[in-house]
Amino acid sequence: MKKTKNLSRNIAIIGVFAVLAALAGVGSWLTTVPVPVKVTERAEAELPSGVEVVHGATPHVEVDYLTTAAITEDDLRLSYPSTPAPLAEASRGWAEDQARAFEAEGEDQLEVRFEPVLVAGSFLGINLTAEVTRGEDHTVREQNFFTDLESTRAWAPQQLVTDDGVIRLGRLVREAAKAGALGDIELPTPQTAQAWAEQGLAGAAFTADGLLVPVGQSGRSLLVHEPEELLTGAGKRIAAAAAANEEFTGLPEPNPNTPPAGTPIEFPGEDSVDCNENKCIALTFDDGPAAGTIRLLDILAREDARATFFLVGSQVAGREQTVQRMVAEGHIVGNHTWQHLQLPEKSRKEVGAQIDRTADAIVAAGAPHPTLLRPPYGALSDEVSEEIAGRGYATVLWDADTLDWETRNTKKTVKNALTGARPGGIILMHDIHPETVQAVPQIIKELREDGYTLVTVPELFGGEMTVGGVYRSHR
Ligand code: NI
Repeated sequence: MKKTKNLSRNIAIIGVFAVLAALAGVGSWLTTVPVPVKVTERAEAELPSGVEVVHGATPHVEVDYLTTAAITEDDLRLSYPSTPAPLAEASRGWAEDQARAFEAEGEDQLEVRFEPVLVAGSFLGINLTAEVTRGEDHTVREQNFFTDLESTRAWAPQQLVTDDGVIRLGRLVREAAKAGALGDIELPTPQTAQAWAEQGLAGAAFTADGLLVPVGQSGRSLLVHEPEELLTGAGKRIAAAAAANEEFTGLPEPNPNTPPAGTPIEFPGEDSVDCNENKCIALTFDDGPAAGTIRLLDILAREDARATFFLVGSQVAGREQTVQRMVAEGHIVGNHTWQHLQLPEKSRKEVGAQIDRTADAIVAAGAPHPTLLRPPYGALSDEVSEEIAGRGYATVLWDADTLDWETRNTKKTVKNALTGARPGGIILMHDIHPETVQAVPQIIKELREDGYTLVTVPELFGGEMTVGGVYRSHR
């Protein structure tokens, strides 16, 4: 149990940051070479025109530079790209699924690694492989992902082929088998051929020669020239860019002053409490500073308890001393944006301004530049997350909502805080409400009686928070 717990923690938080090659030069972050399919042998078989069976795996493209997020433990090595965000997210999700399966099935070793397989126009594609070792057995699973650098989406190849296209691929697989092009195998039933096509699609790649779909364990692939009829709209665009060997537009250059996603964030005193050994919980207060915050700080000082505050930037002017007191008394000051708007409804430019203006106000008030951000209402979108990560922040949500803003009732706030409390949890409250401030002494008392240690959010995660990470609890 404990191992699974630690594992999920480490996976949620990208640890090591590695660079595959020297960060030399500017402009395009990847250079490309034209990628013909490595055909080692063409099967002599009667197949529909425009379709071949070829030997040789997915072609990999040359990469000068791509950042890598990595997690390394004794029996587990995961690496996947840390940029661009949609590709990183899809890759991390797949890598984590492999790690969970690995834990559940008690295998000996897991290694997830990736290789770029497409750079054409604004499209970037990667191949992820998971190699699992159990005793003498090795199994390899693979999954490709593609992204358009001009959008916020990433697609698995399975999402780029239409339902009808999958059925047609199944038929082609069966025809290839019938023609002997898949080697000396028994003719698959239509259902089996269909399953092979579906499984093979996970590792399908777009090449200058067409769509390349690995088939079963045969080591051979179906190469479909001009595959447009099988593809969705996005699939057609990727296929066209690959076929034309379009020059890669390159990854956007990150702000050189901002640590890239995955970089560990450092906080003062983050390791003062070991939350792997102690039953920790973090109290968080949003929407201030407000008049009642001073009273709250008095209570926290009296109780010798540390908390985390997410400040609304427009509230800071005139309350600079309150902000300075937070810092002096060991609390953590985070960013809750300037006007508390629904960020996903705003333009990226507006989202960035809401964040930056608040950071400026916090710094001007005498606090360190914030590195934790809580979006108003907990509302996120891919674009909002990119703006947050692109500024060097980790996102902090919560797992226990006191609903204090709704009840405006001290007793109910105490009750909701205590019933929502879990080891490793983050409790959401609002210090702008006097009823909430009044609830805090009782909450602290009862949590401590229940064996909890009150910590700041960085302490809760023991110094393992990273830029671009999203945190709800530490479990
Ligand atoms: Ni709020």
